Amino acid sequence: MTTRTYDIVIWGATGFTGRLVMAYMAKTYGVDGEIKWAVAGRNAAKLAEVKRQVLGADAENLPEVIADSNDEASLRALVSQTKVVCTTVGPYALYGSTLVALCAELGTHYCDLTGEVQWMRQMIEAHQVAAEASGARIVHTCGFDSIPSDLGTYFVQREMHKAHGVYAPRVKYRVVGSSGGVSGGTVASMMNMMEEASVNPEILDIIADPYALNPLNMPRGEDGADQTTVEYDKDFRQWTGPFVMAGINTRVVRRSHALLGYPWGSHFRYDEAILTGDGPSGFAKAVLVAGGTGLMSKVTGIKALRKLLARVVPAPGEGPSVTAMENGFFEIELRASNPEDPKKDLIAVVTGDRDPGYGSTCKMIAESAVCLAVDDLESAGGFLTPASAMGDLLISRLAEKAGLGFTLKAAEE
Ligand SMILES: NC(=O)c1ccc[n+]([C@@H]2O[C@H](COP(=O)([O-])OP(=O)(O)OC[C@H]3O[C@@H](n4cnc5c(N)ncnc54)[C@H](OP(=O)(O)O)[C@@H]3O)[C@@H](O)[C@H]2O)c1
Repeated sequence: MTTRTYDIVIWGATGFTGRLVMAYMAKTYGVDGEIKWAVAGRNAAKLAEVKRQVLGADAENLPEVIADSNDEASLRALVSQTKVVCTTVGPYALYGSTLVALCAELGTHYCDLTGEVQWMRQMIEAHQVAAEASGARIVHTCGFDSIPSDLGTYFVQREMHKAHGVYAPRVKYRVVGSSGGVSGGTVASMMNMMEEASVNPEILDIIADPYALNPLNMPRGEDGADQTTVEYDKDFRQWTGPFVMAGINTRVVRRSHALLGYPWGSHFRYDEAILTGDGPSGFAKAVLVAGGTGLMSKVTGIKALRKLLARVVPAPGEGPSVTAMENGFFEIELRASNPEDPKKDLIAVVTGDRDPGYGSTCKMIAESAVCLAVDDLESAGGFLTPASAMGDLLISRLAEKAGLGFTLKAAEE
């Protein structure tokens, strides 16, 4: 990589999530510390004002870059002066494609928060060869989707191998609890995905494909469709409902497995669901979760209802309150089955000390950017996943700095 002015540029710093990333970077690494970073936005006056609101007197020490997704020259200038672009400009399918192309071309590492599976598929097909050639590590899904899933699976498999010398043929991700909210940018990204699908129904096939993100012409696996109804989980002894992020996270974990060279075996299986408790109340909660998820996918699938929904959900730039983020949390369990003895099953617990979507996500993407910029990574260039790009090093960073926990607890027999 040629010499670059910055280690990291955060593009989208005026948005709801981008502001949080800026605040976290300033608090954790300082504005004039060892890591050279800058913020970027499309509107100079707004960027200056947001910097001032977030950083106060420190604002003048933090450099800024102006770049608009509609102005390729401005993006090229941004990409060529930094080692890593960390972007919160979404919907990514609307604003992110030229940026990814330029990072792949110019050997600039990249991380984002997209959950738009159809767009990631498109980007991989278009730019994988260029990224491999330039050495750019392009890493999508560096937030709540899909770091707890991807690094949680990587972690529990690592621990299984350490403890028992084998890998689990099956890992189940279960949401134990979480509290948080949603932002306008996330809603806009979901709506845009459904909008695109209404024009191009092939997108629905991509979204439904359990191996949508696997490298082409490489083995897939035995997983089927994501859970859509109520199921009883005998291992956890609880009822479960569908988890809304499973359609993204499961694809990322399966891509990681392929990119890591299928260490967990050709029969490896992975799925996600929400635990709702046992007995009649657990069942009733699971019914509500399944009903709510089904209803939401119906509503967002119909144009007129999407328009109605847009009136009541947060607008771009808006999101959960500071209190909701600070009081938020998440707790996930990933149960890895031991292939030889169920008594040796392991459960990894992945936790976050803020709400999943913003308070914790801003820390996850910021640490991903720092890891890509300064850590001694072994991965080659290409479209990677958090686990295949940064694995152990990112787990350590998140545990040490970002309030995430990766621990083990005994599996009940
Ligand atoms: N995976 C996760 O866990 C997770 C969590 C949080 C967010 N997200 C994703 O992150 C993205 C951002 O969400 P958000 O709520 O922060 O959105 P937001 O508040 O609407 O912010 C969007 C940002 O994009 C910028 N932007 C819009 N159009 C642009 C253009 N043409 N050129 C350059 N910049 C442009 C906006 O700039 P202006 O301020 O100038 O309008 C703003 O900085 C969404 O795609 C969301 O789904 C994912």
